Amino acid sequence: MKGCIIKRILAPLSGNMDVIAIKDAGGHLGKEVEIRGWTHNIRSSGAIAFLQLRDGSGRLQAVVVKNDVSGETWDAAKSLTIESSVVVRGTVKEDTRSPGAVEIQAKEVIPVAIAPEYPIGKKEHGADFLMDQRHLWIRSSRQEAILRVRDEIEFAFREFMKERGFVLADSPIFTPNAVEGTTDLFEVKYFDDKAYLSQSGQLYQEATSAALGKTYCFGPTFRSEKSKTRRHLTEFWMLEAEASYMDQNENMQLQEDLLVHTVNRVLRERRADLALLGRDTAALEKVAEGGFIRLHHRDAIKELQAMGSDIKEGDDLGADDETILTKKYDKPIFVHHYPVAIKAFYMKPDPNEPDRVLNADLLAPEGYGEIIGGSQRIDDLALLEQRIAEHGLPKSAFEWYLDLRRYGSVPHSGFGIGLERTVAWICGLEHVRETIPFPRLLNRLQP
Ligand code: 4AD
Ligand code: MG
Repeated sequence: MKGCIIKRILAPLSGNMDVIAIKDAGGHLGKEVEIRGWTHNIRSSGAIAFLQLRDGSGRLQAVVVKNDVSGETWDAAKSLTIESSVVVRGTVKEDTRSPGAVEIQAKEVIPVAIAPEYPIGKKEHGADFLMDQRHLWIRSSRQEAILRVRDEIEFAFREFMKERGFVLADSPIFTPNAVEGTTDLFEVKYFDDKAYLSQSGQLYQEATSAALGKTYCFGPTFRSEKSKTRRHLTEFWMLEAEASYMDQNENMQLQEDLLVHTVNRVLRERRADLALLGRDTAALEKVAEGGFIRLHHRDAIKELQAMGSDIKEGDDLGADDETILTKKYDKPIFVHHYPVAIKAFYMKPDPNEPDRVLNADLLAPEGYGEIIGGSQRIDDLALLEQRIAEHGLPKSAFEWYLDLRRYGSVPHSGFGIGLERTVAWICGLEHVRETIPFPRLLNRLQP
C-alpha cells in the first residue's frame, strides 16, 4: 500500500463546507472546512492524534480525537506518515498556542497516498545530503519561505518596471557571441555550428530599447565560472534594463528606486516569512528609506586601504573587499568610475576622466557585496569598433550591434541585477544555493 495512491472517491462536500487554503483558516472560525495537503509531522498520545498539516500556503494542526470520529477515520489518522498526502475535514477552532492561532478539529481524515519513511528527518543533515534531496527539501518551512520571498521579489521587479514604462522584451538564450568576457561561456552544439548560452541579454536590450525606448528582460543567464563561492551559480536569473537617453546618474537612481520598491514590498507582504528565516528586518528598513551611498572607485580603494585591505589603486574590488566595505555602511553602496582597463568593452569612458568609465557596481549591505552591474554604453561607432578590437572580439559577430551606432545612436544606459544574490541578501542567507528551486553549481547538476 505504501507509496501508491489510495483509490478513493471523495464524498461530495456537505452544502456549507468550503475547500480552503490553510493561510485563510483564520477567516473560517467555527465553520466546517476541507483542507487538501500533506502531513509534515504526526504525533499521537493515547486516544488523540495531532496531524501537522501543510498545503503550500501555510501550516496548521489537525486534532483527531478517537472518541469523536469513526473507526475508519481513526485508523486513517493512525496510518499517516511524514509527507503522506491527506484530505482533512473538520471545524476550525481557536487555539492561542499555535502559530496561526487556529487549529482544526477533525471529523474525517482521508489519506490520499501513504509515504514510505521520509529521507529528511529531524536530525541535522549536511548541505550535500540536503542538496541531493533538493526536490523534497523544498517542502521544509524554511525553504518554502525563501521561495515565497523569491516570488515576491520577482513580482516587485516586474511591477516596478511596468510602473516606470519599461516594456518586457525577452533576449535570446542561444547567442553567437560573448558579452561579459570570453572565459566563462557555455558552448553548445547548434546543428552544424556552435552557439553559446547567454551570459547577458544586454546587447539585445540595447537593440530593443532603441525600438521601444525603455525595455528589460528577465530570464536565466549562464556562466561557466569555475568559482566555488557562496555567490556564484552557473545558471542564475538576471533582470536587465536598458533605456534610451538615460545617463549614468539617472541609471543609478533607477536602480535605487527599484531596490527601495522591492524591499518595501517584501517587508509589507512577506513579514511572516522573514520572521521564520530569522531575518533582522531593521537592516532592511534602513534600505527601504533610500539614500544609497555613492563612492568613486578611487575613494573606495582609499577606504579599503584604511581598513587594512592590500588592494591597490586601479584594482578590481575582491569579494573580501566588498564584504568589509559593505559592513561599514548600513545602506547599499554604488561604487562608480572603475578604471577602463578592468571593465567590459561596451562601457563609456567619462569625458572628464577618460581613464574611468561611467559605470557602477551596487554593493548590498551586511557583507553581501555586488548585486548589480550597470553603466552608460559607448554610443560612438569608431570608439566601439576600437574597443571590440582591443578586447580581441570577432568584429563580424558584432556587426548587428554596431548598426545600433550607425542608425540613430543615442546616449543610453542600463544595468543587470542578479536575482539570487538579491534573494540571499533580503533573506539573510549564507549561500545562493538556497535561493533558487534547483541550483546549478560548478559540481551540481542534480536533481
Ligand atoms: O556585473 P555583471 O556581469 O553585468 C552584466 O552582465 C551586464 N551585462 C548587465 C547589464 O548592464 N545589462 O552581472 C550582473 C549581476 C551581478 O551583479 C550579479 O548580481 C549577477 O549578475 N551575477 C551572478 N549571480 C549569480 N551567479 C553568478 N555566477 C553571477 N554572475 C553575475
Ligand atoms: Mg559585475
